[in-house]
Amino acid sequence: MSTVTAENYVIRTVRPHEWPALRRLRLDALRDPVAPIAFVEDYEQAAARPDSFWQERAARSGAEDGGVRQVIAEAPDGTWAGTVTVLIEEPGTTDFAGLPVERRQGHLVGVFVRPEHRGSGLVEALFEAGTEWAWRRGVERVRLVVHEDNVRARGAYRKAGFVPSGVVVSFSEDAEDRELELVLARPSGLDR
Ligand SMILES: CC(C)(COP(=O)(O)OP(=O)(O)OC[C@H]1O[C@@H](n2cnc3c(N)ncnc32)[C@H](O)[C@@H]1OP(=O)(O)O)[C@@H](O)C(=O)NCCC(=O)NCCS
Repeated sequence: MSTVTAENYVIRTVRPHEWPALRRLRLDALRDPVAPIAFVEDYEQAAARPDSFWQERAARSGAEDGGVRQVIAEAPDGTWAGTVTVLIEEPGTTDFAGLPVERRQGHLVGVFVRPEHRGSGLVEALFEAGTEWAWRRGVERVRLVVHEDNVRARGAYRKAGFVPSGVVVSFSEDAEDRELELVLARPSGLDR
């Protein structure tokens, strides 16, 4: 999978030997000012993980038969400018929030674009690559969860066609801490 966007970013899957860059991008994402409402993990937890964790993650992300794919956007100078990870969720399993998964679906997580690359349409290019991979794996829909207060991310998801499903989850006891589930239906006419 390799597409050059108008801005000359290369959108592609992470390769196994690239785990140091994957680790760097994740740790930078976790230092973003919105990280506390954008990601479940915090910087200290991620920074404490051994190299083997990142090596396994990079290897798994690129495996053809795996249920997960991490896509990155590489800028002309080689910088990893952004990323999205797609998980395939199977019916009969339980999701991250403890709710039953009712259909085969994709789940977008770990969405991040470096501040200096935002507003460039990169996130849409990342989503396109990630969702295309998920559609090819026969999912009925693609979903994600976004914090109600993360207005920029919500704007980006709206532009990409995601709509609220009505499901609201929370990762804390705080009633204000509302995560909205947004969904993208499988495009009609796509073969399974
Ligand atoms: C979420 C993220 C990937 C989106 O990428 P991006 O390049 O910033 O997104 P875009 O600029 O294409 O789209 C954001 C939209 O929200 C709008 N927006 C930005 N700030 C806004 C605000 N405060 N209120 C309302 N809308 C806002 C933008 O104007 C834009 O819409 P437009 O293109 O119609 O003007 C990026 O901002 C990011 O990495 N954020 C930090 C991590 C994060 O929040 N991840 C998501 C976790 S669920």
